[in-house]
Amino acid sequence: MKILMVCLGNICRSPIAEGILKDKVAKASLTWIVDSAGTLDFHNGEQPHHLSIKVCLQNGIDISTQKSRPFTKKDFLDYDLIFAMANDVLYDMKKIGKENFSEEKAILFLEPLHPGKSYDVPDPWGRNEKDFVEVYELIDKACDAIINQYANVSKSN
Ligand code: 4NP
Repeated sequence: MKILMVCLGNICRSPIAEGILKDKVAKASLTWIVDSAGTLDFHNGEQPHHLSIKVCLQNGIDISTQKSRPFTKKDFLDYDLIFAMANDVLYDMKKIGKENFSEEKAILFLEPLHPGKSYDVPDPWGRNEKDFVEVYELIDKACDAIINQYANVSKSN
């Protein structure tokens, strides 16, 4: 199964989600491929935000080699599940995806953790380390919920 994590800049939230889910996938011996992208192209080619790198490293996860890249309509063809970190991101994904947009593939990232609530992962961009720590903890719980929800259905892919 191929999973894409998407936020706006692909420097704060979705790189953390990519790093944490990759770590959990390896520990659970799943064969999922996990990547991330952003609906804005402002940070194309950049490393994750230094505070995203720092809070991940504090938890034994190195995301420093990730590079921001823009989300494209082709991602709807290349990935099985595409998680939007927030409702504004999901809106952008619809606009970018055009005829490739798929209701089944595009899911709010917090949906498995908080079904039916339409919650956003708060954007820590421009905020302080404490906010990045809170975002890390929320993303960590949400990645557990994703593994619990999708691990059994993905055994064959
Ligand atoms: P992210 O945070 O979507 O979690 O990576 C942001 C990073 C940069 C911008 C917005 C959000 N920006 O407007 O440049």
